[in-house]
Amino acid sequence: MSIVKGILLAGGSGTRLHPMTLAASKQLLPVYDKPMVYYPLSTLMLAGIRDILLISTPQDLPQFRRLLGSGERLGIRFTYAEQPRPDGIAQAFHIGAEWLNGEPVALALGDNLVHADHLSTLLRRAAARDDGATIFAYQVRDPERYGVISFTEDGRATDIVEKPPAPRSNWAVTGLYFYDGRVGEYARNLKPSARGELEITDLNRIYLEAGRLHVERLSRGCAWLDAGTPDSLIQAATFVQTIQTRAGMLVGCPEEVAFRMGFIHAVQLRAEARRLGKTELGRVLAELADSAPGLTLASDRSVAQA
Ligand code: G1P
Repeated sequence: MSIVKGILLAGGSGTRLHPMTLAASKQLLPVYDKPMVYYPLSTLMLAGIRDILLISTPQDLPQFRRLLGSGERLGIRFTYAEQPRPDGIAQAFHIGAEWLNGEPVALALGDNLVHADHLSTLLRRAAARDDGATIFAYQVRDPERYGVISFTEDGRATDIVEKPPAPRSNWAVTGLYFYDGRVGEYARNLKPSARGELEITDLNRIYLEAGRLHVERLSRGCAWLDAGTPDSLIQAATFVQTIQTRAGMLVGCPEEVAFRMGFIHAVQLRAEARRLGKTELGRVLAELADSAPGLTLASDRSVAQA
């Protein structure tokens, strides 16, 4: 059975982005033409996930509700939950335990952006795996900022360490994780780390030690960006701007993904495009809705009649 649930974690205090995040949620800051959270949301949707738990701070949660609502406009469903204190990424599984109900789940960090050819294939493969966990690794110049995974020469993962001062490889673990139904039980047994957090890396290590961790190494043709510092925020924005304006492709647009995945019909996409007013994004979405006339006619009629 494929993973159908996803957690979008948009908590934390965004200290590395102060003062920008003193009065606003980091994951709602703009990355070029969209709020940051749209990018990981699109990633989850590309994996075929339509049932999403959004976790944020009690102060910021109302803004996420205002932005995303019930999810109906995108043909998906949002549930909202508070993370009162930033006690670590793996705390998401405690907060979401009831909603999760022992099922497998994907977790996406609200400040991570992945862009790759055939990303949907890669994601669906991870979502379809019913045993163990799948994580994605990407080569970076500054691995000490991330969870770092090392491999043997023949590509077997050997260890995974959170923000090591002296990294043993330059493979960073990205903020996108797929877990089987045992994640809740594993997360319950986690102890806070030295910095007092329930670490996602400790959870991944449990899977690794049990021989149940699949690591997908993202190739050089992929882009993985996080937007947690002023520099990475501007890099992510420039990246999106370049791809969108140069290649005419949308990056991290949930409305587009909803349409392409068949979660919504052309008539709904057109309504979303109208909501965006005279923006370039609105224009591109309207064009996309119009470009599928066969689909448009049939599906518009069925939606109009519904
Ligand atoms: C978190 C994880 C880290 C991962 C990173 C990806 O770090 O703890 O393992 O590599 O996300 O963005 P944070 O950004 O919360 O410091």
